[in-house]
Amino acid sequence: MKDNGFPIPDDEIMLYGEFPQGFLWSTATAAYQIEGGWRADGKGLSIWDKFAHTPLKVFEDDNGDIACDSYNKIDEDVAVLKQLRVNHYRFSISWTRVLPDGTTNYINEAGFSYYDRLVNALLAENIQPHITLYHWDLPQALQNVGGWENETTVERFKDYADLVFSRLGDRVKLWITINEPYNVAMVGHGYGVAAPGISFRPGTLPYIVGHNLIKAHAEAWHLYNDKYRAKQNGMVSITINSDWSEPRNPYKQEDIDAARRVIQVSQDPLCSTRHRPFCFETLSGVSLCSSTLGTYDYFGFNHYTTVLAYPLNYGNLQGAGTVVDRTWLDSGSGWLKVTPFGLRRILNFIKKEYGNPTIIITENGVSERGPIDLKDYHRSYFYEKYINQVLKAHLLDNVDVRGYTAWSLMDNLEWATGFAERFGLFYVNRSDPNVPRVAKESVSLYSTIINCNGQAP
Ligand code: NOJ
Repeated sequence: MKDNGFPIPDDEIMLYGEFPQGFLWSTATAAYQIEGGWRADGKGLSIWDKFAHTPLKVFEDDNGDIACDSYNKIDEDVAVLKQLRVNHYRFSISWTRVLPDGTTNYINEAGFSYYDRLVNALLAENIQPHITLYHWDLPQALQNVGGWENETTVERFKDYADLVFSRLGDRVKLWITINEPYNVAMVGHGYGVAAPGISFRPGTLPYIVGHNLIKAHAEAWHLYNDKYRAKQNGMVSITINSDWSEPRNPYKQEDIDAARRVIQVSQDPLCSTRHRPFCFETLSGVSLCSSTLGTYDYFGFNHYTTVLAYPLNYGNLQGAGTVVDRTWLDSGSGWLKVTPFGLRRILNFIKKEYGNPTIIITENGVSERGPIDLKDYHRSYFYEKYINQVLKAHLLDNVDVRGYTAWSLMDNLEWATGFAERFGLFYVNRSDPNVPRVAKESVSLYSTIINCNGQAP
């Protein structure tokens, strides 16, 4: 890799080769997006239950009441994971399924039993669970007292993490505390188009929320480190949404600086004491460094796309605006352009900027809209091209990337865009729960890559 970030060989040329033995091949889902069973067996309400039941918040007023019915379909889910040949499965725990009001005052054993059975069923098939503790479905009871704006939620999260580590940690060795804190903070508490749907409130709310999320993560990491690591020997991290960002004009220093700011805003609170553009500390008024720095056993990140950045200031804060290149291929999501080169570049950036950490790609995938078509060639193209960039990063650039996770196992509730944007490798017939999940064409491509452990000639 040259210093200007331009990879050799050319991005377009496929590299044939293998990942090391033991490479983590995975696919991911999240509780609210797939489980359904929104009131089953004593589950409490989450902010997503409330948000999606509010008219006009989710496209076509879709909601996760039933979703993919995974709550009742452990066997079906494990069967399709087997078909895919993955050796890991990333899923999240619904906080209110195990703690209906968000606190440990009452533990809902029926809810725990679901995760217990799921973990056991996965292990029986040699599929390792990779669990996310918080994938956006905060207990509504905690939201009623301020949610992530209220610092006490940090303590509640720590109690919840403690309970889950103690119950499942004997069998689960890979953990994610919080999924995409930047999105929770900005989309949920700034733009208001995700739960809890707070918007147009002037001031610093998203930064306070971001600050509490990062603190909650760090508390859970420290808890694991102090109380569980010696016995359970697992790894805990966070997943950061990290799209790649190129300068709109690579000859302009301001654009180069802006591109860097776009990336740093989501990564730095954990990884670096330097450059803090939209700094959580400045805006929330509290210092993070001492408790959050270094609180990750692997660098977990979700990656989808690339943007082109230019400088844009907010008052006296330096920010960045972004555009895309019109020639990049579209997907079913307006924000997602097919840009495989960005994945290799961000992997190299992480290696260089954050001291060559162990990396696991915790999400990567593409969507479609419109009529159901099981011949999802665009998805096969996407996976083949993106995974090849991971291979290049590993074999040519010596990036310590240990795993790859495809988003998503099956079509599911894509948050505010409902079921209209479909990221699944498997199609789910939601009008007839008796129809099994159906493999799209891309399943055969992804399982072949997994079987070859890389790119076969
Ligand atoms: C990131 C989120 O973690 C996941 O829930 C979402 O469905 C995908 N990106 C696709 O937008």
